[in-house]
Amino acid sequence: MENKVLVVYYSLEGNTKLIAEAISKAVSGDILQIKPKKDINPKSKMRYLIGGKKSITKEKPELLPYDIKAEDYDVLFIGTPVWAGNFAPAMRSFFAGTNLKHKKIALFSCNGGGNGKTFENMKSELQGNEFLGEIEFKNPLKNDPEKNVEKAKKWAEDVCKRL
Ligand SMILES: Cc1cc2nc3c(=O)[nH]c(=O)nc-3n(C[C@H](O)[C@H](O)[C@H](O)COP(=O)(O)O)c2cc1C
Repeated sequence: MENKVLVVYYSLEGNTKLIAEAISKAVSGDILQIKPKKDINPKSKMRYLIGGKKSITKEKPELLPYDIKAEDYDVLFIGTPVWAGNFAPAMRSFFAGTNLKHKKIALFSCNGGGNGKTFENMKSELQGNEFLGEIEFKNPLKNDPEKNVEKAKKWAEDVCKRL
């Protein structure tokens, strides 16, 4: 039977969105963008401070409703920006509201230079699943977007070869 593939991501400033869309195209997967009901203004100069605090205090913001059920998929690509060395709070809400077990999961992130404990912490939230790979991107919108899109596509295709 064909594997059902879902790309789930959060993005405040569009970097993770760029990569998520490239992956979903490369692997013909469905795509789910999660968003807090009240998100930070991506143009705010205070966004690092506000978002960093939310990440450190492990906030779980209420998400806008979505009708995709991640549990119905076999393979998930899960992507987040790095906030204060960790995955973004919206992803924490997603993990808390989803029961993912026995799935094949690949992780991707966008950061400004350091991935911190993002993947380790995601894996600890996602225990009971098999991990197929992980990859990080440095602000892909600012650093040769096309090259990063190619890198994402190639990685996603390689991940699918491991299925
Ligand atoms: C609240 C906040 C905290 C951040 N913390 C980090 C960090 O700890 N390390 C890092 O390398 N980049 C950090 N960044 C930069 C983002 O991870 C980076 O710009 C990423 O590409 C943004 O992805 P997005 O456009 O999908 O939101 C932070 C950005 C924000 C808004």
